[in-house]
This record gives sequence, structure tokens and C-alpha cells, in this order.
Amino acid sequence: ADSLGALAAPINLRIGNAVNMDKLNVDATYTSLVANQYSTVTPENVMKWEVIEPTQGQLNFAPADQLVSFAQQHNQLVRGHTLLWHNQLPGWLTTGVSNGTISNAQLRDILKRHIFDEAGHFRGKIWQWDVANEVFANAWDPNPLPNGMNGDNFWVSHLGVGIVADAFRWAHQADPHALLFYNDFNIGGEDGTNAKADAVYAWVKSVRAQGVPIQGVGNQGHLDTQYGFSGAKLQDDLARYASLGVKVAITEADVRTFVETTDSLQTPTDSLAQFAQPFEFDQMLKACLAVSSCLSFTIWGVDDADSWVPGVFTGEGYATLHDTNLQPKTAYTTLQQDLRLS
Ligand code: G3I
Repeated sequence: ADSLGALAAPINLRIGNAVNMDKLNVDATYTSLVANQYSTVTPENVMKWEVIEPTQGQLNFAPADQLVSFAQQHNQLVRGHTLLWHNQLPGWLTTGVSNGTISNAQLRDILKRHIFDEAGHFRGKIWQWDVANEVFANAWDPNPLPNGMNGDNFWVSHLGVGIVADAFRWAHQADPHALLFYNDFNIGGEDGTNAKADAVYAWVKSVRAQGVPIQGVGNQGHLDTQYGFSGAKLQDDLARYASLGVKVAITEADVRTFVETTDSLQTPTDSLAQFAQPFEFDQMLKACLAVSSCLSFTIWGVDDADSWVPGVFTGEGYATLHDTNLQPKTAYTTLQQDLRLS
């Protein structure tokens, strides 16, 4: 009754996590946390193209199917992640493109086929699809296009900016009932003006005016306590997307910080970071709670041992709600309290 999912149910908000299929139904404590705490799940990796089609034409839906049935058994809704992304593509695809055996015209057909294969396979079983992920340029990307997309993005560079809208059209044909999301990071909560958030806003506005079926904007929410973040600004950014008539969601929340790397619990090196970690989670959830179109709040990683952060950011960790022994941290009880008061 005091799980995150249960506390959020009366206000029609879903609380979720990214699920690692190497652990679900394998590690009992992990599995019961996923089953009991959350009302939506996202596959951390198993709906990505490299897993779905490791060999061209041979589709591997088994691990994702396992997650979908787990979710159905536990009354959880599924966020599909993701159909068009530049990472975790199958080797046959990237190799074929780079050695010229796959032309751009063929690449377009292969992407279309992939979207129909995957969104079609899960038709009717996906609540929100992250149709396109991370195609807009960050401040540090050298080749932003006039509409703000990243000119060096694999899909945009080969197929042009229109491919992103086409991906939504194909996904909608393959699964007309799923809510189709554009998903990205650094598009909400940054202080001051943010060219990337402005570009995503302008693009969603323009493609919706053209009738492109896009119904949501996902704000990933990967935060780091050493960078500025404003919950009030995030609320404004979410409300601005929602003003276009789309739903919004926090899709990959985590808050990393520098840790004592010799400490198996990944304790932060300073007490300010120990305070900031739960505080930034609290601010993200409160921003979502304040915007009625915010449908879900998904955390990226069930526990600190399972998080992607230490593998990518040297010296950082402590990014999730549960410690490496799967015990709840202050961030967890803070979110519980936010939901109780909402
Ligand atoms: O499956 C292979 C395994 O066979 C191999 O032995 C092992 C050796 O490194 O690698 C395994 O693949 C790893 C894969 O996760 C599955 O565990 C990759 O190396 C690793 O790079 C990959 O990381 C994922 C990352 O996306 C890659 O892009 C993370 O788990 C996942 O949390 C992360 O998620 C992304 C979102 O999809 C999009 N937004 C950013 C977010 C964080 O990077």
C-alpha cells in the first residue's frame, strides 16, 4: 500500500523503472522490488534493435515478451524503448551502411520494416512508445542543423530530418493505440535559455501542425548533482510541451554524484551530495506532479549496483533509489512522502 506505484495510483500517475532482463525472474529481491514498487516498466535494453534483430531477418522478441507478460501479471503498463536511435544498432546494419552494401534507400526500407516488425509485434501491449530517441543536438555537438537536430546523427545524416516524422507515421500505422513519444535528455530543467529544449518544442509544434502522430515528449532526467538543475524550470518546460496538446513524462530519472568508490554502497564523498541526490529526485517528481499532462515518472535503474552510471562516469554512482544491497535510500522515502502529500 505504501509502494511508489500504489501511492501514485489515486492521482492517476504511474511510477516506473527500467528493467534489466538479466536480473528479472533471476534475482529474487530485484524481481520483487520491480513487481511491488512500480506501476509501469521500461525495458532497459531488450527492445533495442541490436537485441531484437541480431541477425538480419531473425527476430528475437523472447526477452521483451517476457517483460511484457511480467508486466501484465503485475498490472503494470509498458513503455516501449526505442524504435529509432543511433545507439545499440545491430552490427550487420552499421557495417552494411559503412561499407556501402546498404544504400540510403535500402536503409530507409530497413528502418520502416523494423518499425513495422517491432511495433507490430507488440501492437496493443505498449502504453507509450519512445519512437525516436536523442536526435536533437546538444550544445557541444559540432553540426546542429537549422531545425536543431544533430546533423551527425546516424539516421538524420543518412536519411534527412524528415525520417523522424516518418518513424512516427510508421509506428502509428503499426500500433494505432500506443502513445507515441519523442524522448531526449537536456530538454527540461536547465537554467536559463536552452536551445535544445526550444528546438524540440518548435519541432513538435510544427510536425503536429502537419498531422504527424506524436502524442508525447519524454524528458529523460539524467541529472548530476554537480550541474545546475531547477525543478521550477523543469515544471515550466514540461508545461510548455504540454501546451502543444501532447502528454509528457519523466522517462529515465536518475541523479548521479561522486562517490567513495571503495565503498560498496557507493556513498557520496560529501554530505552536500548526500542531500542533493534525494532533493533533485524530489524536485523532478514535484515538477511532474504539478503538470496534469505528466503521465508517468520512470527511474532508470532499480538499484545502485544495477545502474548504468558507474560504467560510464568514472567515480560517479549512487544514482538510484535503492542501494547496492537493494535497501531503500533517502531518495526513495522522499518520493514516497511527495506522493503521500499529493
Ligand atoms: O549484452 C552485452 C554483453 O553480451 C557483453 O558481454 C557486455 C560487455 O560489455 O555488454 C553487453 O551490452 C551492454 C548492454 O548495455 C547490455 O547490458 C553494453 O556494453 C552497454 O553499453 C549497454 O549499456 C546501455 C546503454 O544504454 C547503451 O547505450 C545501458 O544498459 C542502458 O541503461 C543505457 O540506457 C540509455 C537509454 O537507452 C537512452 N538514454 C540514455 C540511457 C543511459 O545511457
